[in-house]
Amino acid sequence: MRRPNNHPDKMTEHGNRSDDPLDIILGNSPAILQVKSLIRQVAASDITVLVTGESGTGKELVARSIHELSPRRKEPLVTLNCGAIPEGIFESEIFGHEKGSFTSADHRRQGYFEMADRGTLFLDEIGEMPLQVQVKMLRVLETGRFLRVGGTKEIQVNERVIAATNKELGVEVANGRFRQDLYYRLKAVSIAVPSLRERPGDVRILAIHFASEFAERNGRPKPVFEPEALARLERHHWAGNVRELKNFVESLVALNQEPLITGDAVSSQLGYVMGSENLPMVITRPPEELDRELIYRTLLELRQELNSIKGLLQQMTQGGPHEVDYSFSSAEEIDAYTLDDLEREQIRRALADFNGNRRQAARALGIGERTLYRKIRQYGLK
Ligand SMILES: Nc1ncnc2c1ncn2[C@@H]1O[C@H](COP(=O)(O)OP(=O)(O)OP(=O)(O)O)[C@@H](O)[C@H]1O
Ligand SMILES: [Mg+2]
Repeated sequence: MRRPNNHPDKMTEHGNRSDDPLDIILGNSPAILQVKSLIRQVAASDITVLVTGESGTGKELVARSIHELSPRRKEPLVTLNCGAIPEGIFESEIFGHEKGSFTSADHRRQGYFEMADRGTLFLDEIGEMPLQVQVKMLRVLETGRFLRVGGTKEIQVNERVIAATNKELGVEVANGRFRQDLYYRLKAVSIAVPSLRERPGDVRILAIHFASEFAERNGRPKPVFEPEALARLERHHWAGNVRELKNFVESLVALNQEPLITGDAVSSQLGYVMGSENLPMVITRPPEELDRELIYRTLLELRQELNSIKGLLQQMTQGGPHEVDYSFSSAEEIDAYTLDDLEREQIRRALADFNGNRRQAARALGIGERTLYRKIRQYGLK
């Protein structure tokens, strides 16, 4: 429902902090510039905006920039992920409930609409909203008024609503899963975020940004891409869009021993990620090496999730509902393990697996023997 968000730091190309909220949206393709210009147009008013686009295209970033550019920027931006709430409690989550309205309601509870009062309510994955809630939703959009579950007194709120979906709501309407009246109301002002395929030129900009950012966070030298590496990234079909590209580039930097990222490094990593049917070229890497990578990647993902949970816990223990800023910054800021810890552990295990045989361990790790020697010294391993 509430989740941490890794948004790029607001840095300009020259490394200066910038104050333009739109700078978090990278890219200079005509398609993305069009999105930015729409954001500027709608931001100042209170109009409800529907943000559409495939998964990972940056819909949440768009929602955040609208809020940040709006007169409500000092008020909360509250995110509700409609797909994450069980149908049975949806209504009480969004509208709140009065004490005693159902068996376990032992006190009055504010819903999301109230929490976002004066600010912006971001209804993510609105296509997942239960039909019976959609009826009431339309009414709130029109009047700003609603009843808490079990309540009799109408509550009035003043807030901006932004909704997002990666579904074709028109199709959902046709299939009876989304109300037509709400759909028409929402789509009046909509921003369609383009997929990466529609703006291949942005791939380089994003890749370079994500790589540098990741390296900086992890105390690594700034990565340099060979032109061929960038060309290959650009040619790849990123079904998961910017999110997939970001994850890919981060693991590329994490697994690459040197700062120079070659075209071959990209291809072999892509081959690994995609499986053989999408291979741009034949890859002959020993299976144990791929196993190692899988472990490493899993560890990285675990670390990210752990950090997200830590972040959430920290937020929950630090403030009441109003102070919970659902749009908090990078999970990486609350560091659990460093990459070095993971690397050290991976090397230790490989050495143990091969009874200390460094040549075999190096091969399994996919690194040169010399690099392994250096790392063993660096980490004080035997
Ligand atoms: N134009 C962009 N510039 C920089 N980072 C971006 C851009 N677009 C997306 N990202 C990053 O990609 C990731 C996915 O973005 P976001 O969560 O906004 O996508 P989404 O469209 O909401 O995806 P989903 O449909 O899966 O919820 C985030 O880490 C976000 O910071
Ligand atoms: Mg999203």
